[in-house]
Amino acid sequence: MIPVKSQTPPAAQPTSATSAAGAWSGRFSEPVSEQVKIYTASVNFDQRLAFADIDGSLAHARMLAHVGVLSATDLQGIERGLSQIREEIARGKFAWSIDLEDVHLNIEKRLTALVGDAGKRLHTGRSRNDQVATDIRLWLRGAIDHLLGQLRTLRGAFIDQAEKYADVVMPGFTHLQVAQPVTFGHHLMAYEAMFARDTERLRDARRRVNRMPLGAAALAGSGYPVNREYAAKLLGFEAICPNSLDAVSDRDFAIEFSAAATLIMVHLSRLSEELVLWSSPRFGFIQIADRFCTGSSIMPQKKNPDVPELVRGKTGRVVGHLMGLITLMKGQPLAYNKDNQEDKEPLFDTVDTLAATLSIVIDLIANGLTAVPERMRAAALEGYATATDLADYLVRRGLPFRDAHEAVARAVREAETRGVTLEALPLDVLQQFSPLIKKDVFGVLTLEGSVASRNHTGGTAPEQVKKAVKVARASLEG
Ligand code: ARG
Repeated sequence: MIPVKSQTPPAAQPTSATSAAGAWSGRFSEPVSEQVKIYTASVNFDQRLAFADIDGSLAHARMLAHVGVLSATDLQGIERGLSQIREEIARGKFAWSIDLEDVHLNIEKRLTALVGDAGKRLHTGRSRNDQVATDIRLWLRGAIDHLLGQLRTLRGAFIDQAEKYADVVMPGFTHLQVAQPVTFGHHLMAYEAMFARDTERLRDARRRVNRMPLGAAALAGSGYPVNREYAAKLLGFEAICPNSLDAVSDRDFAIEFSAAATLIMVHLSRLSEELVLWSSPRFGFIQIADRFCTGSSIMPQKKNPDVPELVRGKTGRVVGHLMGLITLMKGQPLAYNKDNQEDKEPLFDTVDTLAATLSIVIDLIANGLTAVPERMRAAALEGYATATDLADYLVRRGLPFRDAHEAVARAVREAETRGVTLEALPLDVLQQFSPLIKKDVFGVLTLEGSVASRNHTGGTAPEQVKKAVKVARASLEG
């Protein structure tokens, strides 16, 4: 696993000299205007790709030497220069220049300053178009591996909590109305199931991220006898992009990742909404540790669940980035267009937001969440949560389900009028709604009886929750 941090060099403010030193300057009679230079430069943000860029350049140079296009001496020079540049960037000592537009030209220029002509030969058989597409894929692959590790930890936290609360009964809701009793462990395992699917999605997206554009050059491929498979092996790519036009131009892999990231945020946001509700004094189902909450500057009684609220809020920006990336792609003719430079900021921010959010939610679920079983129980009792169990009881005694439903609805109305729970109605009163009701009815009217009866794979019975916990734990191992 490559932590995002270590694959991201320290950010630095690029400076601007007066001379415009574009890589194409021979063709032009005047330098770009100051405004255009600033508008088109990406070095402010794409310097984040620096280490990926160096890795890609090393592989390219080694491939060129392997096929005899680059001399061994030049390769040595390039390797020495790039290793020094890596050092300089890691130590924050690299002088980024906006005149050099982007991360690629900045590094190439410095390389040439350090090692002379060998540096100028690095770009043989390559274009920034296949270079940048390779860089983003390398960077994103590392980010995905980091996120996959986080998802795994998060799932572990849910599994541990679910095991702890396998027997705790709470009301399950539909339409935010008390519906049927469930166990808190079961509810927590619902999130584990969501994050397990998110893991699958991310792993699947990774396969398509992990294909190499290098060798596609500007758009048509290279006139040199490049060995793309050789470079792909050096860089750990599973495959090469099979078509040069497609290789340099499509960013569907970033869109796919962004969609997977969006779904993770949507799941985290749903969780957050529940944490906000559950921790409010009206529900009181859980306590969130104080270190995740803030007070109010004016209302002394307040304890605000800021962290889940912000998770919910930050979901909006990740969804927005997905829209941005999709829209970026939709009107582009083949092959590369400068539009694609706009892929980076949304992608970086998606990864940053998701990684920070997962990190804090992991801590909250693992260490900051305590259930209040009495409050959950009281709420389940208040809501006639076992009404369906009573209907099922009547069905087992031969009544058609629709008739049973009607009889129970009337019993609920009676309990409501008396202001009591269903199980508090005396037997003779219950029997007015159906003579099929016998003394044993009280067994099914209890919350424990209700949850224990849903004892099949995927059901809420404590026994099933414990089974689900085992299965999930085993799948984390795999
Ligand atoms: N900074 C550019 C990007 O992010 C690099 C590729 C530039 N290629 C070009 N033909 N202008 O897409």
